[in-house]
Amino acid sequence: MAEPKITLTDSRTDKSYEVPIQNSTIRAIDLRQVREVPEEFGMMTYDPGYTNTASCSSKVCFIDGDKGILRYRGYPIENLAENCTYTEVAYLLLYGELPTQSELGGWNAEIGMRTMVHENLKKFMDGFRYDAHPMGMLISSVAALSTFYPEAKNIQSKTNRRMQQLRLLGKIPTLAAYAYRHSQGLPYTMPDNELTYTENFMNMLWRRTEPKYDPDPVLAKALDVLFILHADHEQNCSTSTMRTVGSSNADPYISLSAACGALYGPLHGGANEAVLKMLDEIGSMENIPKFIKEVKEGERRLMGFGHRVYKNYDPRAKIIKTIADQVFEVTGKNPKIELAKELEKIALEDDYFVKRRLYPNVDFYSGIIYEAMGFRPEMFTVLFAIGRTVGWLTHWEELMEDPEARIARPRQVYLGPGEREFVPIAERLGKMQSERA
Ligand code: CMC
Repeated sequence: MAEPKITLTDSRTDKSYEVPIQNSTIRAIDLRQVREVPEEFGMMTYDPGYTNTASCSSKVCFIDGDKGILRYRGYPIENLAENCTYTEVAYLLLYGELPTQSELGGWNAEIGMRTMVHENLKKFMDGFRYDAHPMGMLISSVAALSTFYPEAKNIQSKTNRRMQQLRLLGKIPTLAAYAYRHSQGLPYTMPDNELTYTENFMNMLWRRTEPKYDPDPVLAKALDVLFILHADHEQNCSTSTMRTVGSSNADPYISLSAACGALYGPLHGGANEAVLKMLDEIGSMENIPKFIKEVKEGERRLMGFGHRVYKNYDPRAKIIKTIADQVFEVTGKNPKIELAKELEKIALEDDYFVKRRLYPNVDFYSGIIYEAMGFRPEMFTVLFAIGRTVGWLTHWEELMEDPEARIARPRQVYLGPGEREFVPIAERLGKMQSERA
């Protein structure tokens, strides 16, 4: 079959161009040949927020936003959440295949060996104020790891990259737990490698004076599933940041710290914290109509609703809703669940949300579960970051192996002034004066 092509006709010149199509995509650079006059730079695409631009090709994660489908390496998220542990899924994402029993044993041991952090890193964390936001502490301490492992800069070596990936997977829960303990004024807890990845995280968070921490199996399973649900989501804001910073050949600690920074924003991973604050503010059922009215009038957003890709129910939110009931059996019901369910019901029937295809996303119910488990809202995005670490690392690895990868450097449409005559400082009017003149 002949190579598929799209024919474009430029009405300015009446010239036609044939542009090859591959994977339902045209290459933006193929548009550069489109020029009104030969000396022109050539046509570009304009896509603020990258709503219709593929920045890379990837084999990691598939989303069909219209159908509400999410798969890691081909496996439906529902199957993975039901049957796997987080570290099993982490292996799948990083290596492309599910591990055998012995591979998984070895993998867990390798990660477990790397859960401790240098004593100086603890001192570094001690330097934060008592009320420092744990995301700020996580972002900074991940970046600080770069100074402890200078060899991580050798990103050309696959063996070296694998070592940093193991270290990051091992140490992120430790840093997250220490950020929490710092906020509580509690001493840092040593990791316990007899526990699973998630159980050990709980141990580092919540162990007090008991000789051995005994995690609740239901809560440990729920948290593990939440990590699985957050493990990857293709080219979202933070993963794209990981790739963008990584494309400059920065080491993985610096790139991952930048990715954490992107996640922190309330339109991305910070939404789970924002949902809880929103529910607190709404307070009770009778305030919902007023709140919805404000949302519809564009005064605010219904946090935890809407998604760039999902125009259907986020499959992760469906799973999270079922976990909530299991968690509440142990912790007691978080009364905010009723408020959230009512908000969802009203929104799903309202024309404003229906027309825009706005459904609950992963962040809508997760915070309610985290709160029932005893986490303060400031920790919610940190929990997201723990789960997403493997996704960031997988995309970074894919970038490192991609022969087409180049430094990320978008173009712009310049709309500023043309060349102007220089004005000596004594003759300048100043912005305020010139605006008044
Ligand atoms: N509440 C009210 N209106 C909304 C919402 C919302 N949560 N989300 C989108 N809209 C409206 C928006 O005002 C716009 O309306 P109009 O066409 O009249 O201008 C329309 O829907 C399209 O919205 P958009 O902002 O152009 O969509 P986007 O794809 O750029 O943004 C989003 C996606 C997730 C940032 C957005 O839906 C949002 O701000 N949601 C709330 C924050 C949130 O829950 N974020 C978590 C996302 S999922 C997890 C993650 O990625 O971390």
